[in-house]
Amino acid sequence: MTTAMTTAKTTGVTLLGSTGSIGINTLEVIARHPDKYHVCALAANTNVAMMFAQCQKFQPEKVVMADAKCARKLQIKIKQAGIKIDVESGQQALCSIAGQLGETIVCAIVGAAGLMSTIAAVKSGNKVLIANKEPLVMLGEYIVRLARDNAACLLPLDSEHNAIFQCLPQPGLAHRNDNDNDNANAMVTDDQGIKKILLTGSGGPLLRLPLNQLSSVTPDQACAHPNWQMGRKISVDSATMMNKGLELIEACALFGVSENMIEIVVHPQSVVHSMVEYIDGSIIAQLSRPDMRIPIASALAWPHRIVSGAAALSLQEVARLDFEAPDDARFPALRLAQNAAQSGGTLPAIMNAANEVAVDAFLNGQISFDKIARLVERTMERSNSDNANDLDTVLAADREARMECARLLAAVDGAG
Ligand SMILES: NC(=O)c1ccc[n+]([C@@H]2O[C@H](COP(=O)([O-])OP(=O)(O)OC[C@H]3O[C@@H](n4cnc5c(N)ncnc54)[C@H](OP(=O)(O)O)[C@@H]3O)[C@@H](O)[C@H]2O)c1
Repeated sequence: MTTAMTTAKTTGVTLLGSTGSIGINTLEVIARHPDKYHVCALAANTNVAMMFAQCQKFQPEKVVMADAKCARKLQIKIKQAGIKIDVESGQQALCSIAGQLGETIVCAIVGAAGLMSTIAAVKSGNKVLIANKEPLVMLGEYIVRLARDNAACLLPLDSEHNAIFQCLPQPGLAHRNDNDNDNANAMVTDDQGIKKILLTGSGGPLLRLPLNQLSSVTPDQACAHPNWQMGRKISVDSATMMNKGLELIEACALFGVSENMIEIVVHPQSVVHSMVEYIDGSIIAQLSRPDMRIPIASALAWPHRIVSGAAALSLQEVARLDFEAPDDARFPALRLAQNAAQSGGTLPAIMNAANEVAVDAFLNGQISFDKIARLVERTMERSNSDNANDLDTVLAADREARMECARLLAAVDGAG
């Protein structure tokens, strides 16, 4: 286990994707607890202005910008400000801070771009808080196995998975010592009496839009989530419910269950963040306001509790909670993800890669909203799925699916 720059009694945190929605929320929680945490390293892609502001406030030891030009710009600003921070760029530097700096690593990069740094973080044998769901979709079993082999403590930051984690029995918790990572990775076992996991999702901003209007939805409409403020990629995924599909595959990997043990439930209020049903008829749920600082604080401090800064939930104000089954015609992406979860192998990685390309094409005005799932489906149909036993096979499947999806996109009737 690496122990990097730790001040007296505080835990060093390395934050990958610090300029994004999860990154900003994580820094807000950390800033409330200077007696418990300090920032060792930060990483982002191109947002120099925000990274510079974060450097001034949190004074990390090291910063990585994936983009080399942006790293140089940041370096100049940092030098002019007279701050002493090491600035590097590129994938290797990203993996190096993920693997070597901080006792807690927060993986909050968006998309497959976070895969290698997530693997490096898990190999470090430290505490890894994972929001970046795409690597778990691509190579979930491998990452969970790596965590076990390296005694890393893998804790979910995704609100639903964090909720499930909180609803599962956590054996040995009372006797657990803070440096003992082994008990953290909460796999469902036969003796726990668990019947199923109820994975909730709001249904996004288009839940009630007439189906014949889906083709004219704009990126801003798709990103206007009623309950959560998130980055644009995950916001579009929420509108198609591909996000729930990705989460289904993520949950299978994190909790070691098959997809038929997970039921997706549409819950428009986003108050119940997921549930676990037991064989005696009990359902345990985790409730809170939809505020990512809550799962972030819960995972940062686990197995203890710290103040998150989020307001308490008033059940009187909420007054009612609605639950319904997802509509297959409105959310075809869900079926694609269920098929990918069932088939396994490289199909989840193929689906994820096609989805990243398709969402990007939608956000850039190349395709209409209703074509996203269609493009993903056609890419899945035209790609050969393989066993996902090793990293190289999955990376190759990811590359080929991106190329195939781009070819379909370029063809006149590609997404038709
Ligand atoms: N937002 C949520 O509430 C939420 C909830 C649950 C799970 N998640 C998951 O958490 C992840 C992050 O979501 P988000 O909403 O925070 O995304 P976001 O707001 O778009 O932020 C993405 C972060 O990743 C960085 N980044 C992008 N490409 C990169 C690259 N190639 N190398 C290094 N850094 C890169 C971005 O840097 P720049 O700013 O410089 O581009 C930014 O810091 C996603 O996987 C998402 O599914 C998010």
